[in-house]
Amino acid sequence: MRQSLCAMNDLNNLNEPQSISAIWTDTRAAGFAMPSEPLTCSLLRTLAASKPSARFLELGSGTGLSTAWLLDGMDAGSRLTTVDNDESLLSILKRHLGADPRLTVVCSDGDDFLRSIRGERFDLIFADTWAGKYRLLYETLELLNPAGLYVIDDMLPQPNWPEGHAQKVADLVATLESMKGYHVTKLSWASGVVLVAKTNPNS
Ligand SMILES: C[S@@+](CC[C@H](N)C(=O)[O-])C[C@H]1O[C@@H](n2cnc3c(N)ncnc32)[C@H](O)[C@@H]1O
Repeated sequence: MRQSLCAMNDLNNLNEPQSISAIWTDTRAAGFAMPSEPLTCSLLRTLAASKPSARFLELGSGTGLSTAWLLDGMDAGSRLTTVDNDESLLSILKRHLGADPRLTVVCSDGDDFLRSIRGERFDLIFADTWAGKYRLLYETLELLNPAGLYVIDDMLPQPNWPEGHAQKVADLVATLESMKGYHVTKLSWASGVVLVAKTNPNS
Protein backbone atom coordinates (compact mmCIF):
# COMPACT_ATOMS: atom_id res chain seq x y z
CA MET A 1 0.00 0.00 0.00
CA ARG A 2 2.74 2.43 1.04
CA GLN A 3 4.66 1.68 -2.16
CA SER A 4 1.69 2.45 -4.41
CA LEU A 5 1.02 5.72 -2.55
CA CYS A 6 4.62 6.70 -3.16
CA ALA A 7 4.35 5.82 -6.84
CA MET A 8 1.40 8.23 -7.00
CA ASN A 9 3.38 11.11 -5.50
CA ASP A 10 2.63 13.80 -8.11
CA LEU A 11 6.12 15.24 -7.96
CA ASN A 12 8.04 11.98 -8.39
CA ASN A 13 9.66 11.33 -11.75
CA LEU A 14 8.43 14.46 -13.49
CA ASN A 15 11.19 14.00 -16.04
CA GLU A 16 11.36 17.69 -16.82
CA PRO A 17 12.60 19.04 -20.16
CA GLN A 18 16.36 19.59 -20.43
CA SER A 19 16.07 23.37 -20.68
CA ILE A 20 14.06 23.76 -17.47
CA SER A 21 16.80 23.98 -14.87
CA ALA A 22 18.60 26.77 -16.75
CA ILE A 23 15.31 28.65 -17.31
CA TRP A 24 14.56 28.36 -13.58
CA THR A 25 18.02 29.80 -12.75
CA ASP A 26 17.33 32.86 -14.94
CA THR A 27 13.73 33.08 -13.69
CA ARG A 28 14.86 33.30 -10.07
CA ALA A 29 17.63 35.76 -10.95
CA ALA A 30 15.05 37.97 -12.69
CA GLY A 31 12.84 37.83 -9.59
CA PHE A 32 9.87 36.66 -11.68
CA ALA A 33 7.12 35.99 -9.14
CA MET A 34 4.44 34.29 -11.25
CA PRO A 35 6.03 31.11 -12.66
CA SER A 36 3.80 28.20 -13.65
CA GLU A 37 4.01 25.16 -11.39
CA PRO A 38 5.84 22.05 -12.61
CA LEU A 39 2.69 19.93 -12.15
CA THR A 40 0.61 22.18 -14.40
CA CYS A 41 3.45 22.22 -16.91
CA SER A 42 3.66 18.44 -16.84
CA LEU A 43 -0.05 18.22 -17.60
CA LEU A 44 0.41 20.67 -20.49
CA ARG A 45 3.17 18.51 -21.96
CA THR A 46 1.01 15.39 -21.76
CA LEU A 47 -1.91 17.17 -23.42
CA ALA A 48 0.41 18.56 -26.11
CA ALA A 49 1.69 15.07 -26.86
CA SER A 50 -1.87 13.92 -27.52
CA LYS A 51 -2.27 16.44 -30.36
CA PRO A 52 -0.01 15.68 -33.34
CA SER A 53 0.48 18.27 -36.08
CA ALA A 54 -1.42 20.76 -33.98
CA ARG A 55 -1.45 24.51 -33.40
CA PHE A 56 -0.86 25.70 -29.86
CA LEU A 57 -1.35 29.14 -28.32
CA GLU A 58 0.03 30.32 -25.00
CA LEU A 59 -1.14 33.63 -23.53
CA GLY A 60 1.34 34.74 -20.84
CA SER A 61 4.76 33.29 -21.68
CA GLY A 62 6.65 34.61 -18.64
CA THR A 63 10.24 33.37 -18.85
CA GLY A 64 9.27 30.29 -20.85
CA LEU A 65 8.69 27.60 -18.23
CA SER A 66 5.32 26.40 -19.52
CA THR A 67 6.54 27.10 -23.07
CA ALA A 68 9.40 24.64 -22.59
CA TRP A 69 7.07 21.90 -21.37
CA LEU A 70 4.60 22.47 -24.20
CA LEU A 71 7.42 22.27 -26.76
CA ASP A 72 8.67 19.08 -25.11
CA GLY A 73 5.29 17.41 -25.69
CA MET A 74 4.74 18.68 -29.23
CA ASP A 75 5.71 16.70 -32.31
CA ALA A 76 7.79 18.06 -35.17
CA GLY A 77 4.72 19.07 -37.19
CA SER A 78 3.18 21.19 -34.45
CA ARG A 79 3.51 24.94 -33.95
CA LEU A 80 3.31 27.09 -30.81
CA THR A 81 2.70 30.83 -30.61
CA THR A 82 3.44 32.37 -27.22
CA VAL A 83 2.52 35.93 -26.23
CA ASP A 84 3.62 38.24 -23.42
CA ASN A 85 3.92 42.01 -23.09
CA ASP A 86 7.16 41.95 -21.08
CA GLU A 87 10.20 42.02 -23.34
CA SER A 88 12.64 41.37 -20.48
CA LEU A 89 10.88 38.11 -19.58
CA LEU A 90 10.70 37.13 -23.24
CA SER A 91 14.44 37.70 -23.59
CA ILE A 92 14.99 34.85 -21.11
CA LEU A 93 12.55 32.66 -23.01
CA LYS A 94 14.25 33.43 -26.32
CA ARG A 95 17.72 32.75 -24.92
CA HIS A 96 16.71 29.19 -23.99
CA LEU A 97 14.01 28.29 -26.53
CA GLY A 98 14.30 30.79 -29.36
CA ALA A 99 16.15 28.39 -31.64
CA ASP A 100 13.19 26.01 -31.83
CA PRO A 101 11.69 26.44 -35.32
CA ARG A 102 8.25 25.36 -34.07
CA LEU A 103 8.01 28.42 -31.80
CA THR A 104 6.81 31.96 -32.59
CA VAL A 105 7.34 34.50 -29.82
CA VAL A 106 5.14 37.61 -29.85
CA CYS A 107 5.71 40.64 -27.63
CA SER A 108 2.30 42.28 -27.46
CA ASP A 109 -0.51 43.24 -25.21
CA GLY A 110 -2.65 40.09 -24.94
CA ASP A 111 -5.93 41.84 -25.76
CA ASP A 112 -4.46 43.47 -28.86
CA PHE A 113 -3.01 40.15 -29.97
CA LEU A 114 -6.32 38.31 -29.53
CA ARG A 115 -8.15 40.97 -31.53
CA SER A 116 -5.54 40.67 -34.30
CA ILE A 117 -5.94 36.93 -34.87
CA ARG A 118 -9.71 36.61 -35.30
CA GLY A 119 -10.44 33.75 -37.70
CA GLU A 120 -7.34 31.73 -36.79
CA ARG A 121 -7.78 28.34 -35.11
CA PHE A 122 -5.83 26.45 -32.44
CA ASP A 123 -6.00 22.93 -31.01
CA LEU A 124 -4.88 23.88 -27.50
CA ILE A 125 -4.86 27.26 -25.77
CA PHE A 126 -3.13 27.79 -22.42
CA ALA A 127 -4.47 31.10 -21.12
CA ASP A 128 -2.09 32.18 -18.37
CA THR A 129 -2.74 35.90 -18.21
CA TRP A 130 -5.75 38.19 -17.97
CA ALA A 131 -6.29 38.26 -21.72
CA GLY A 132 -8.12 35.14 -22.81
CA LYS A 133 -9.18 34.32 -19.26
CA TYR A 134 -10.72 37.22 -17.40
CA ARG A 135 -10.92 39.33 -20.56
CA LEU A 136 -11.99 38.31 -24.09
CA LEU A 137 -12.98 34.83 -22.91
CA TYR A 138 -15.58 34.23 -25.62
CA GLU A 139 -13.25 35.50 -28.35
CA THR A 140 -10.56 33.13 -27.10
CA LEU A 141 -12.83 30.07 -26.99
CA GLU A 142 -13.92 30.98 -30.51
CA LEU A 143 -10.30 30.42 -31.60
CA LEU A 144 -10.48 26.73 -30.66
CA ASN A 145 -10.86 24.07 -33.31
CA PRO A 146 -13.56 21.47 -32.66
CA ALA A 147 -12.13 19.00 -30.08
CA GLY A 148 -9.70 21.72 -29.03
CA LEU A 149 -8.63 22.20 -25.42
CA TYR A 150 -8.62 25.36 -23.31
CA VAL A 151 -6.50 25.18 -20.15
CA ILE A 152 -6.23 27.64 -17.25
CA ASP A 153 -4.47 27.42 -13.88
CA ASP A 154 -4.14 29.49 -10.69
CA MET A 155 -7.78 28.76 -9.89
CA LEU A 156 -7.29 27.71 -6.23
CA PRO A 157 -7.19 30.48 -3.59
CA GLN A 158 -3.76 32.07 -3.08
CA PRO A 159 -2.73 34.31 -0.15
CA ASN A 160 -1.57 37.01 -2.60
CA TRP A 161 -4.92 37.34 -4.43
CA PRO A 162 -6.06 40.95 -4.46
CA GLU A 163 -9.41 42.00 -3.05
CA GLY A 164 -12.21 40.79 -5.33
CA HIS A 165 -10.16 38.21 -7.23
CA ALA A 166 -11.89 35.21 -5.63
CA GLN A 167 -15.20 36.44 -7.06
CA LYS A 168 -13.61 36.81 -10.52
CA VAL A 169 -12.43 33.20 -10.33
CA ALA A 170 -15.86 31.97 -9.23
CA ASP A 171 -17.54 33.94 -12.01
CA LEU A 172 -15.14 32.53 -14.62
CA VAL A 173 -15.79 28.94 -13.53
CA ALA A 174 -19.55 29.53 -13.50
CA THR A 175 -19.40 31.05 -16.99
CA LEU A 176 -17.43 28.11 -18.38
CA GLU A 177 -19.77 25.60 -16.75
CA SER A 178 -22.81 27.33 -18.20
CA MET A 179 -21.59 27.34 -21.80
CA LYS A 180 -23.08 24.98 -24.35
CA GLY A 181 -20.68 23.10 -26.63
CA TYR A 182 -17.93 22.59 -24.04
CA HIS A 183 -17.05 19.93 -21.45
CA VAL A 184 -15.46 21.25 -18.26
CA THR A 185 -13.32 19.44 -15.68
CA LYS A 186 -12.03 21.14 -12.54
CA LEU A 187 -8.85 19.81 -10.97
CA SER A 188 -8.26 21.01 -7.40
CA TRP A 189 -4.64 20.09 -7.86
CA ALA A 190 -1.42 22.05 -8.30
CA SER A 191 -2.50 25.73 -8.39
CA GLY A 192 -6.02 24.68 -9.47
CA VAL A 193 -6.55 23.77 -13.10
CA VAL A 194 -9.64 23.93 -15.28
CA LEU A 195 -9.68 21.87 -18.47
CA VAL A 196 -12.25 22.70 -21.14
CA ALA A 197 -12.82 20.70 -24.32
CA LYS A 198 -14.78 22.13 -27.23
CA THR A 199 -17.16 19.49 -28.44
CA ASN A 200 -17.02 18.42 -32.06
CA PRO A 201 -20.36 19.11 -33.77
CA ASN A 202 -19.50 16.51 -36.43
CA SER A 203 -19.04 13.62 -34.00
C1 LIG B 1 1.21 33.86 -14.67
S1 LIG B 1 2.43 34.66 -15.62
C2 LIG B 1 2.81 33.52 -16.90
C3 LIG B 1 3.66 32.40 -16.38
C4 LIG B 1 4.25 31.51 -17.44
N1 LIG B 1 3.22 30.84 -18.23
C5 LIG B 1 5.19 30.50 -16.86
O1 LIG B 1 5.22 29.34 -17.32
O2 LIG B 1 5.92 30.83 -15.90
C6 LIG B 1 1.48 35.88 -16.47
C7 LIG B 1 2.24 36.60 -17.56
O3 LIG B 1 1.32 37.50 -18.20
C8 LIG B 1 2.06 38.61 -18.66
N2 LIG B 1 1.13 39.72 -18.88
C9 LIG B 1 0.55 40.54 -17.97
N3 LIG B 1 -0.26 41.44 -18.55
C10 LIG B 1 -0.22 41.16 -19.88
C11 LIG B 1 -0.84 41.75 -21.02
N4 LIG B 1 -1.67 42.78 -20.91
N5 LIG B 1 -0.57 41.22 -22.23
C12 LIG B 1 0.29 40.18 -22.37
N6 LIG B 1 0.90 39.58 -21.31
C13 LIG B 1 0.66 40.08 -20.09
C14 LIG B 1 3.10 38.87 -17.57
O4 LIG B 1 4.21 39.56 -18.10
C15 LIG B 1 3.43 37.44 -17.12
O5 LIG B 1 4.58 36.98 -17.73
